[in-house]
Amino acid sequence: MIAIRNLTKRYGGVAALSDCELEIGAPGIYGLIGPNGAGKTTLFDVMTGLTEPDSGTVLIEGRDVTGFSPHRLARLGVARSFQECRVFSEFTCLENLLFGARGTRAEALRLLELVNLQRYRDEPAANLSFGQRRLLEIVATFMRKPRILLLDEPASGVNPALLELLLESIRRMYEERPCLFLVVEHNMEFVMALASEIVVMHQGAVLERGSPEAVQASPRVMEAYLG
Ligand SMILES: Nc1ncnc2c1ncn2[C@@H]1O[C@H](COP(=O)(O)OP(=O)(O)O)[C@@H](O)[C@H]1O
Ligand SMILES: [Mg+2]
Repeated sequence: MIAIRNLTKRYGGVAALSDCELEIGAPGIYGLIGPNGAGKTTLFDVMTGLTEPDSGTVLIEGRDVTGFSPHRLARLGVARSFQECRVFSEFTCLENLLFGARGTRAEALRLLELVNLQRYRDEPAANLSFGQRRLLEIVATFMRKPRILLLDEPASGVNPALLELLLESIRRMYEERPCLFLVVEHNMEFVMALASEIVVMHQGAVLERGSPEAVQASPRVMEAYLG
């Protein structure tokens, strides 16, 4: 479903991505971890067309999509949420879900229920707590029926009381429509509980990949974090 080949992206003297290689063949919930500055967000930026790589290719379902616009990639089924959380604050929760969606109002209401926001359906998203806005952003992204869903630090800044709901919501979305979730996350407990497979990035490339248990036991991974 995803094949990243020799991807390189420099910002001045910094190689955000350096000959990065990654293949993911099947739907599932995958975690993407790595120390700050490892290149995780840059990889998402390239995969969603927000930045062009200096070299290398991105293949989605076998098709070379390198350099495609965000709009075109979205139409091909690649969607994302943002590290800083992007919702339309002045629009209601329901409107946020229906905007650009490929689903019915009934579906939107059901997804609001899934994240326990049904009672805010007609309230502007600005009235929600940060964690609730994140939940809204994620279900709004899911409403677009992506085949590949990239979540950038969904748990960051979320009140611990909402974390279990967030975890459960992502699981339920996946069960409902198994797409490929790739989740960047710094909260280790969260990502290890959520993902069935973990990819570890370090210095712009993939360092390790495996089950949560294997990755947590990996000396190379530990070293990268202690770096
Ligand atoms: N727009 C940008 N301009 C300059 N440097 C950037 C930009 N985006 C990322 N970088 C640099 O590239 C490296 C990788 O960043 P990033 O992909 O955000 O890492 P991560 O998400 O893993 O923390 C960092 O050193 C970061 O400072
Ligand atoms: Mg990042």
